[in-house]
Amino acid sequence: MAKRWAVALMRLLGRNWITLFGASLTTVSGLAICAFLLFGLLGLADSPYLAMMALLVLPAFFVLGLILIPVGAYVDNRRRRAAGNSSQEDHRRDSYPKVDFNKPSVRRAAAAAGFLTVINVFLVSAVSFQGVSYMDTPEFCGEVCHSVMQPEFDAYKDSPHARVACVDCHIGPGAPWFVRSKISGMGQMLAVTFDTYQRPIPTPVENLRPSQDTCEQCHWPAKFTGDRIKVIRKYSDDEANTPLTTALLLHIGGGDQGGSGIHSWHIDPSKQTTYVSLDPQRQTIAWVEVREADGSLTEYFARGQAPTEEQRAQGVRRIMDCIDCHNRPTHIMHLPGRALDQAITEGRVDRSIPFIKKMGVQVLTQVGQVLAAPEQIAQQLRDYYQKNHFEFYNSQRAMVEDAIREIQSIYSRNVFPQMRVSWGTYPDNIGHEYFPGCFRCHDGDHTTLDGSRSIEQDCTSCHTVLAWDEESPAVLSDLGIR
Ligand code: HEC
Ligand code: HEC
Ligand code: HEC
Ligand code: HEC
Ligand code: HEC
Repeated sequence: MAKRWAVALMRLLGRNWITLFGASLTTVSGLAICAFLLFGLLGLADSPYLAMMALLVLPAFFVLGLILIPVGAYVDNRRRRAAGNSSQEDHRRDSYPKVDFNKPSVRRAAAAAGFLTVINVFLVSAVSFQGVSYMDTPEFCGEVCHSVMQPEFDAYKDSPHARVACVDCHIGPGAPWFVRSKISGMGQMLAVTFDTYQRPIPTPVENLRPSQDTCEQCHWPAKFTGDRIKVIRKYSDDEANTPLTTALLLHIGGGDQGGSGIHSWHIDPSKQTTYVSLDPQRQTIAWVEVREADGSLTEYFARGQAPTEEQRAQGVRRIMDCIDCHNRPTHIMHLPGRALDQAITEGRVDRSIPFIKKMGVQVLTQVGQVLAAPEQIAQQLRDYYQKNHFEFYNSQRAMVEDAIREIQSIYSRNVFPQMRVSWGTYPDNIGHEYFPGCFRCHDGDHTTLDGSRSIEQDCTSCHTVLAWDEESPAVLSDLGIR
């Protein structure tokens, strides 16, 4: 019985090497996929590389094998016919076989083919569904090409969006963008395979989907809050690392409240702001056009001057959306000062270490963009404290060593020599402290041609400054903010 089935299967597969190779490829990869899936279910295999093998690479071999089976049969048939042309008898033997369902062997072969097809269709669709879902996970996007995505992935894991999938911002819902992303993904795979990708990955991301379809799926513009207090804590360069506090009342505003808040104005659907930038990073803005609901157009030009022909030709137009302000909502990288202020505020670096703010920033800024930088950081800080604060270093060695470790990790969270990402590689457009940000347009210098109107730089239009670099602002204690 078993032998008869084996014979039927052999007949089905033919006896040519292409078909046999295809059949073996399919069988081996099919078994391997099953094994991987089983390991996965048992929780034994938990690496993005294994998942990629099981869900993307092996299925490709599996399908390739399936395709080779009929290809082999076809090639074999052609070859035999070509060889048999000379003899009548061969020719007859090699013409297409008559399929006669009265013969038990033919019925068995057909049943075997049907059975295998059902299994294959099931396996291929189950695995491709899993494969596609898997390609949507942050592990796939962030970890498979680890060194390429490390700057973005590391910052993301530590951000307010750490539980939002990469694809929610980078692809969004719907089939057309899904297909686009897969096509561009293939280009990216090739770039990684042949090591032709750019370092650092250039921004702005040219083909990022408009934010209505991504950010606004979760953040409902009409439901934004009115004002919000933001407390910013910094430390000065003196021996005591004296704390300095700034408190802003940010007029964020709501999308449907009218008024003059940041969001009220900028994400009001009845206005459309288009701007033209002269540099690839969109930091130099030549002119801005505001179109109101009634169709009226106001144009603001840098220094109030009409753009030259050259600028008109060179400039890139863009309709402003969430990402023109929130360009780093999740890949948040800091400059040394900001990073140290945060570490001291959160107690990861002890404020009682003399000059730690100043020295930390100095060492982080001066150390080279090299793989050995963390060791250099430790060496320089140890040298400094041994030489200048010997007593303190000797009595509080553990505290200083903790601070050194934290400063090393600030470095490795923000500087990635292998991707040529360094301090300030990616400008952040929120605010105006570290990068031009809002002041790319709100610099008081973007005016209409007749000079009668300008894009507001009034300090109170975006926020009220409640306290500015004060040691212990009264306003915060009045509000009960510690
Ligand atoms: C909250 C939304 C959001 C999430 C989640 C998100 N990104 Fe981004 N990402 C952005 C935005 C916005 C930009 C565009 C920055 C620009 O154009 O200036 C960007 C830019 C990038 C860039 C270009 C380089 C750079 O640093 O700007 C890469 C690479 C990237 N993201 C990878 C990822 C990966 C990998 C994940 C998941 C681990 C992810 N992103 C998750 C919003 C997001
Ligand atoms: C899948 C849902 C989702 C998407 C898509 C999304 N966000 Fe968010 N976002 C959140 C959640 C949830 C939080 C709140 C996190 C918290 O409170 O800790 C948040 C917080 C924020 C914050 C406040 C961060 C802070 O420091 O408190 C900003 C700004 C923001 N998102 C902007 C964006 C922008 C811009 C995009 C599009 C590029 C975007 N988000 C896309 C879910 C999303
Ligand atoms: C003109 C620049 C600008 C635009 C455009 C803009 N925002 Fe904001 N947004 C800000 C600023 C500034 C803040 C406050 C900054 C902060 O919290 O540090 C803010 C705050 C937020 C917050 C946090 C709100 C809170 O109460 O804490 C979210 C979420 C947010 N924006 C999402 C969006 C989304 C979604 C869009 C697009 C529909 C958008 N923003 C468009 C400038 C902008
Ligand atoms: C590409 C240029 C551009 C950028 C960048 C930009 N704005 Fe604006 N903004 C405008 C224009 C144009 C107006 C409308 C000026 C007018 O017609 O009164 C405006 C108006 C505003 C208003 C309303 C002012 C009022 O008088 O009612 C606020 C608030 C505002 N912007 C906040 C911000 C903040 C915060 C940022 C940075 C996160 C920012 N803008 C970045 C172009 C810009
Ligand atoms: C177009 C809107 C806008 C205008 C005009 C504006 N600011 Fe700001 N400012 C912001 C935003 C947005 C932030 C950043 C909030 C954050 O860190 O998220 C900020 C932050 C600040 C900070 C804190 C910076 C830090 O991180 O230490 C100070 C101080 C400040 N602004 C002062 C001013 C002064 C003074 C003026 C008038 C010359 C002014 N701002 C005009 C939008 C504006």
